[in-house]
Amino acid sequence: MKREELKKLARRRIFDIEIWPAGKPIDELKEELGLPDLARMDTNENPLGPSPGAVKAMEQAIRHVNFYPDGPCLRLKRKLAGRLGISEDMVAFGNGADSCIRMVASAFINDGEEVVMADPSFPVYSIFTRVMGGEEVLVPLKDYTHDLQAMKKKIGPRTKLVCICNPNNPTGSIVRKAELDDFFRDLPSDVIVVLDEAYFEFVSDPQFPNGLDYLREGRNIIVMRTFSKLYGLAGLRIGYMMAAPEMISVLERVREPYTVAGVAEEAALAALDDREFIDRVIRNNEKSRNLICRELDRLGLDYVPSHTNFLFVDLKTDARKVREALMRRGFLIRAGTAWKLPTCVRITFGTEAQNAAFIRALEEVLGGGR
Ligand SMILES: Cc1ncc(COP(=O)(O)O)c(C=O)c1O
Repeated sequence: MKREELKKLARRRIFDIEIWPAGKPIDELKEELGLPDLARMDTNENPLGPSPGAVKAMEQAIRHVNFYPDGPCLRLKRKLAGRLGISEDMVAFGNGADSCIRMVASAFINDGEEVVMADPSFPVYSIFTRVMGGEEVLVPLKDYTHDLQAMKKKIGPRTKLVCICNPNNPTGSIVRKAELDDFFRDLPSDVIVVLDEAYFEFVSDPQFPNGLDYLREGRNIIVMRTFSKLYGLAGLRIGYMMAAPEMISVLERVREPYTVAGVAEEAALAALDDREFIDRVIRNNEKSRNLICRELDRLGLDYVPSHTNFLFVDLKTDARKVREALMRRGFLIRAGTAWKLPTCVRITFGTEAQNAAFIRALEEVLGGGR
């Protein structure tokens, strides 16, 4: 079938969507570059590996993959709900937070309805909005942070969802409690707020709001979190959302029957108990953030204060060229081209050794060593 014919058959906005850029498989890239190793500082993954507790649990669970998993992940629901002080009917799981975002879009967006979101922010909100034939309403960041007042002004009769990424990917910035309180004040009752807290556990700012407080106040909110970042389980694909029981019962209707693998549920159960690893990840992240910021200060580079496991930096030069040069030296970072910020890069913190070597490479590249 020809592309033009397929265009008529596909849902209305499918051809507006770009295929997610996957890049080359890492081993092929290493071979092509002739490098024994590549530091993956481009996708906000955990540089310390997966939670060892989770790995142990997976070794056991792998023996049972002939069985379908428990679709709703009841044991994990109970454990997580208990930890967070909410009831188990307020949690639902997906194949990563990505899949939770898809579930929200499938459950709520009708053709032509609007979703207000920041720009740049996490691109998956926009993708699934379009999949459902919705319209994204992009509100530029102000000082690299969500402009909640401007976002609120964009809410109209067709608005169904407002996506707030807190902390924001790619900038690592946060909105604080007072701003979010203000945003919720007099919000129309038929608008649902999706609060994406994928990096929640990395934030130490005392004024950072906890999405669950708004949920407890009875707001129309869906809070998203993930096992991909803190727990080092990005490759397993497990994330979750928390909302009022009635909201969860809507979302559960659009869940694929067995969306979360049994191995992933077991890993997540164990990861929640892996306190030693959790503490180590947070300590390493804080150390990395301090070191990289100090070094960037020394190099006179501007960056957005980070509340996450990555840093958004304005290099004031063509970021794509810097990215290429760093890749040849064994470091992958993300250039800001896709965010229409061509002089900016997003750098995920690495291990202590990776961070130190990265700074040396960056200094060399910016010093003219292309
Ligand atoms: C803000 C934000 N939300 C959601 C996700 C998706 O997380 P998951 O790996 O659970 O699909 C990411 C991943 O990078 C993210 O940055």
